[in-house]
Amino acid sequence: MSGYLGYLSSPANDRFAYICKDLKPPAMNVNRKVLTLDEFTIQQLREFPHATGELSSLLRDIGLAAKRVNVEVNKAGLVDILGDAGSVNVQGEDVKKLDVFANDQFTGVLRHGISCAGVASEEIDDFVAFDDEVSKNSKYVCLYDPLDGSGNIDVNVSIGTIFSVYPRLSPRGTAVTREDFLQPGVRQVAAGYIVYGSSTMMVYGTRRGVNGFTLDQSIGEFTLSHPDIKCPEDGRIYSVNHGNFFQYEQAVQDYIQICQRKNKSNGGPYTQRYIGSMVADVHRNLIKGGIFMYPPTIDKPKGKLRLMYECNPFAFIVTIAGGRATNGKIRVLDVEPTELHQRSSLYIGSSKMMDELETCLNPA
Ligand code: AHG
Ligand code: MN
Ligand code: MN
Repeated sequence: MSGYLGYLSSPANDRFAYICKDLKPPAMNVNRKVLTLDEFTIQQLREFPHATGELSSLLRDIGLAAKRVNVEVNKAGLVDILGDAGSVNVQGEDVKKLDVFANDQFTGVLRHGISCAGVASEEIDDFVAFDDEVSKNSKYVCLYDPLDGSGNIDVNVSIGTIFSVYPRLSPRGTAVTREDFLQPGVRQVAAGYIVYGSSTMMVYGTRRGVNGFTLDQSIGEFTLSHPDIKCPEDGRIYSVNHGNFFQYEQAVQDYIQICQRKNKSNGGPYTQRYIGSMVADVHRNLIKGGIFMYPPTIDKPKGKLRLMYECNPFAFIVTIAGGRATNGKIRVLDVEPTELHQRSSLYIGSSKMMDELETCLNPA
């Protein structure tokens, strides 16, 4: 099945064809080639007879929260959920009402699910250990940026959610501890994101691959539209905040100028694209090929993005899909975290563009 064919032949489009031309009732058979997120996770589970189903259940919980957030995101222009919620998050930034809503939704579904023993969120100061018996016996912890690109909410530009799943280290039956959350990204068992864009998509990766699901609004289900996503080996898009150019170290400035120059060996100049919602920027580059960078600046010498909520999940997804991610020195996935809200620099994308970047960052 081609990546997009499944979605285009959805029941919604069948109905559209009926209204527009045939004026004959469409056959009411369900298109079995289009798997919903729930069907897909269950199908994956059936291939592993000894799997407990906890990860599948957690992913389905996240899908449910994403659908609820999607409804609110789509109403954002109509109802009073725009603007600041009147507080700042633990990192000193304005909290929008939708950030709060999204945080509550993801925390809520995971608290009431059967797979998650605790959560950490960009919007919460400390981790939360769920204290009921089912949760204390659960296998995973989940970390998330409930609303990424929140500065774009008020102007109708794509925003997203990013999540990361780790197996707990503490014994089951006990409350989770800080060590359960402060694990290097290489220990993730799954990571994913939701883009609330021109369509709403959930993409998640496990060691078995990366798959993308588009929300079919007609049935209210995420359906498999982008099976087995691979990051193109090379690309022609670079994504960076150019306004910070003179705040970047010389090696980063050198690489940006390579991107801008006519260059027969790499097909340059490249195209610059920067939305300001990392989810949307990295999603586009994952599909089309490209590199996304958030280097250290004079004002933010450790970088701006959060290691645990933004860099690690994307590093996992892009690496599984065949690309690479570094903090400029080592693989993001190998960084030993020391704080939940730790910042990191990030360079992530198509492997050949990453090679080219590294000739500037680490000259021989
Ligand atoms: P958040 O809305 O969760 O705070 O994240 C915003 C992040 C990221 O999505 C984006 O790539 C980056 O901030 C943009 O930062 P600049 O405006 O500094 O370029
Ligand atoms: Mn973010
Ligand atoms: Mn956020």
